[in-house]
Amino acid sequence: MPIMEMKRDRASWIKGPSAQCVPPPVAAQPPRRLVLLGAPGVGKGTQAELLASHYGACHLSTGDIFRAAKALDAGERTPALSAALDYMRKGELVPDETVLALVAERIGCLRCDGGFLLDGFPRTVAQAEALEQLLKKENITIDAVLSYDLPLERVVARLSGRRTCANCKAVFHIETRPSKVEGVCDQCGGKLYQREDDRPEAIRVRMEAYDKSTSPLAEFYRKRNLLVSVPAEGSPREIFDRSTVLLKARGR
Ligand code: AP5
Repeated sequence: MPIMEMKRDRASWIKGPSAQCVPPPVAAQPPRRLVLLGAPGVGKGTQAELLASHYGACHLSTGDIFRAAKALDAGERTPALSAALDYMRKGELVPDETVLALVAERIGCLRCDGGFLLDGFPRTVAQAEALEQLLKKENITIDAVLSYDLPLERVVARLSGRRTCANCKAVFHIETRPSKVEGVCDQCGGKLYQREDDRPEAIRVRMEAYDKSTSPLAEFYRKRNLLVSVPAEGSPREIFDRSTVLLKARGR
C-alpha cells in the first residue's frame, strides 16, 4: 500500500487546474476513489487526511477551494466565487452551478491515477447526479461512499473546538486533538485559526442545510449499492480503522 511521505499541497484542486501539485501524485495500484458523507463537523476532513495518507489518494474538499479563495484579493476572485464566500459565511450552501463549474474545471484531479477522497462534494442530489454523469463520461467508478454518523450534540462539540491551519489546512481540536504548541500547526508550523462558519448561528444554518439537502444522499448511494455506514464514535484512529475494515469487507 503506498504511504504518502509528505503531505501533498493539492494545488491543482485548491488553486485550479493550471497549478501543479507538490509533490506530484504517485499512481496507486489500484487508485482509491471514495466519497465521504456526513454532517458538518462529524469528522470527514479528519478521516480524509488519515485515509489519504493510508491509500496515497488526494483529499479533495470543496470547502478548501472556497477557503483558499478567501485569501485572494477581491479583484482576483470571479463574481461567482465572491458570492460563494457570502453563502459560506452564513453557513448556507453555495449554489450548485458554482460548485459544479469549479469541479468540472478540476476534472484532472478526478482522473488522477493517485485516486481521490471527495469531502463535502457532492452535497445535494443535483450535485450527485452531475458527478455521476461526469465520472461516467470519464469511465471512472467510485469504490464506495463512506457515511459517518454521530448524534447532533456530539457533532456541535466537535465543531466548536475545531482549529484549522491557515497554511496546510490540517485540522485540530482544542480538547480532543490539540496541537503540541497552542495556535501552531504540528505539520507545517502555520497559524491555527477558528473558521468563521464555526460560530453558533452559522452552525445552526449548516445543520439545517445538511438535513434538507445533503442527508438524502445516503439513500441516493444506498440505491447504487455504494453506501458504507460508519459509526463516528470514538477517536479518529478508531474510526479510521473501522472505515478500512468496512471497506475491506466489501473487497476494497
Ligand atoms: P466544508 O468545508 O465541506 O465543511 P463541512 O461539511 O461543514 O464539514 P466540516 O469541514 O465543517 O467538518 P468535517 O466533517 O470535515 O469535520 P472535521 O474533520 O473538521 O464546507 C464549508 C462550507 O462551504 C459549506 O457550509 C458551504 O457553504 C460551502 N460548500 C462546500 N462544499 C459545498 C458544496 N459541495 N455545495 C455547496 N456548498 C458547499 O472535524 C471537526 C472537529 O472535530 C475538528 O476539530 C476535529 O479535530 C474534531 N474531530 C474529528 N474527529 C474526531 C473524533 N473522532 N473525536 C473527537 N474529535 C474529533
